[in-house]
Amino acid sequence: MDERLVSAERHDTDIEPLSLRPRTLAEYIGQDHVKEMMDIFIRAAKGRRESLDHVLLYGPPGLGKTTLANIVANEIGVQIKVTSGPSIEKSGDLAVLLTSLEPGDILFIDEIHRLPRVVEEVLYPAMEDFVIDLIVGKDETSRSIRVDLPPFTLIGATTRFGDLTAPLRERFGVVHKLEYYDQASLEKIAARTAKIYEAVVAGDSLKEIARRSRGTPRITNRLFRRIRDFADVLNEGKIDTNITKTALDKLGIDALGLDQKDHDYLRGLIENYGGGPVGVESLATSIGEEVTTVEDVYEPYLLKIGFVQRTPRGRVATEKAYKHMNIPFQGGLFG
Ligand code: ADE
Repeated sequence: MDERLVSAERHDTDIEPLSLRPRTLAEYIGQDHVKEMMDIFIRAAKGRRESLDHVLLYGPPGLGKTTLANIVANEIGVQIKVTSGPSIEKSGDLAVLLTSLEPGDILFIDEIHRLPRVVEEVLYPAMEDFVIDLIVGKDETSRSIRVDLPPFTLIGATTRFGDLTAPLRERFGVVHKLEYYDQASLEKIAARTAKIYEAVVAGDSLKEIARRSRGTPRITNRLFRRIRDFADVLNEGKIDTNITKTALDKLGIDALGLDQKDHDYLRGLIENYGGGPVGVESLATSIGEEVTTVEDVYEPYLLKIGFVQRTPRGRVATEKAYKHMNIPFQGGLFG
């Protein structure tokens, strides 16, 4: 797979020293509202010695949904089993997971919008009443048996809140959207990463890394590692403003953190479709990507920085996008 340095999706090469991931809410930077709420719910559940209510975390990739789930488990002092929607193919797979939990444990299902429907239906009574109904035997001898489960907490994560069915959505007592991180939080995250790697950092390096991270800590950490490579080879290990800018420029990441793929998307929208409106299918085809990748990975940040608007008739490039791409703006249909 073609892996973009600034894609927020997880890369196989994103193997981090374990210590890079915050282990407690106190260590977790940003998402203050979510943190404050989770702290209360965790303390309440612990105080009552009950399992925490089911939690749904949604938002763009790379913002820390999995990290947060691990923190919750750590703070409560329970085990967490990690799986994902597409990897649970049959209801039996889910039954195996659920029956292996200890009281209070957490089951984390990433990409929960991709759970097969038959599996989802087993999850409903599991979430609501901590029971599952298993079919045993075949044909005329088949019957349903009810199995009790220990009280557990499901933490679901998704980049596509709108793709969740209503019955699943309604079974989560706690629902939080993770937002893109602001500049100050990303600078703190970069500084924390530098400290963990024991790197020498000077000047505006951390500011520059934060500025080009698309609001996404996963990208902050990835950029940091690449810049450290440049610094080690070209600058005796010292990460200063100069080597940071040189590295980011050589990596093809512009002042706002956009890369070649974003440029292709914007240029396609502006030059091939007059700035829109155009359907996402056409845009995806023109840059050789899946529609879901364009919707989940490329567009959220372009929407967030106001370069693209979603209208009922399709995507539209804004004047800001023209300016950034250095293309004269003609006013456009909406302008
Ligand atoms: N590393 C990645 N995300 C982080 C966060 N939100 N806080 C601290 N360190 C992080």
